[in-house]
Amino acid sequence: MDARSATEAERQDAGAGVIATRGLTKRYRGGQLAVDGLDLTVPAGSVFGFLGPNGSGKTTTIRMLMGLIAPTSGTARVLGSAMPGAARTVLPHIGALIEGPALYGHLSGRDNLLRYDAADPTADPRTRRARAGSALERVGLTAAAGKKAKAYSLGMKQRLGLACALLQPRRLLVLDEPTNGLDPQGMREIRSLVRELASDGTTVFLSSHLLDEIEQVCTHAAVMARGRLIVQGAVADLAAGARGRLTVTTPDTGEAARVLKEQGAGDVVAADDQVTADPPERDLAEVNAALVAAGVRVRGFGVERASLEDAFVALTGEGFDVAG
Ligand SMILES: Nc1ncnc2c1ncn2[C@@H]1O[C@H](COP(=O)(O)OP(=O)(O)OP(=O)(O)O)[C@@H](O)[C@H]1O
Ligand SMILES: [Mg+2]
Repeated sequence: MDARSATEAERQDAGAGVIATRGLTKRYRGGQLAVDGLDLTVPAGSVFGFLGPNGSGKTTTIRMLMGLIAPTSGTARVLGSAMPGAARTVLPHIGALIEGPALYGHLSGRDNLLRYDAADPTADPRTRRARAGSALERVGLTAAAGKKAKAYSLGMKQRLGLACALLQPRRLLVLDEPTNGLDPQGMREIRSLVRELASDGTTVFLSSHLLDEIEQVCTHAAVMARGRLIVQGAVADLAAGARGRLTVTTPDTGEAARVLKEQGAGDVVAADDQVTADPPERDLAEVNAALVAAGVRVRGFGVERASLEDAFVALTGEGFDVAG
């Protein structure tokens, strides 16, 4: 890419979003409405978490974004071009990992990568081995590179799929559940890899059904439920929309619970030496003073920061479970 087209590309990304969908809808042949009128905007340079419980339409959306399936209606623009029409020109700029990579079981991890790289007409064969080597290194597979892919664990296969996506520098990475099958240490490694890639300027779009994972790594997020977009925006703003729980630590839980209810707190729950509640709409200093005035011995008083999970529950009125 020359300097002029790079500038042009950046201008497009900044203006319209790296990914922009309007009314994107997919109804599968069996009649299942998997994605319903999705308007999604992914800002350039973001780490964008695409969040939703199992079956909420994440993979279906990603497959439409990558031009693998056609939408029933609506549009999807990726890197400024309409999909699936522009797939041939757009896909070389995108590294993708979608639902379990297709691997050749009889080939080693390294040979799978070399073969994948060879399928890319723009990839220079002279630097192929070096590219494969550094991709293996990045995902922590160097020691296992000679092992046959069919002998890889789920987490190792996932890493190899990620290595395929990292062979070339990309403007956009689309990762469908990249930490699926990984242990906590592996998940941490992928998170730090994602941060590193983002700091190089790559926009990362990743799906997950794990709220805390999104919270740890993403700058922006969209929440899906039953094929519909519930909310999207900066992670900090999403969490700020929900109020955290008020926690009072005290040996006098019965009296504390009574006072909190009197002060307008909702959903008051008393445990051993703590009472938690939804904070009332008033100055919390007054609530604390009321507790003390009633003779409650307050050892701790504070509002926990709201999590994305609180925000999800507040928005949907339901837990983060699989829809039927
Ligand atoms: N090929 C298909 N044919 C018919 N229905 C499908 C097909 N693929 C997915 N669906 C249905 O579409 C809905 C959305 O599925 P999708 O795979 O997009 O969800 P997801 O959010 O990726 O879930 P998960 O977290 O389990 O990966 C589900 O109800 C699913 O059963
Ligand atoms: Mg999926």
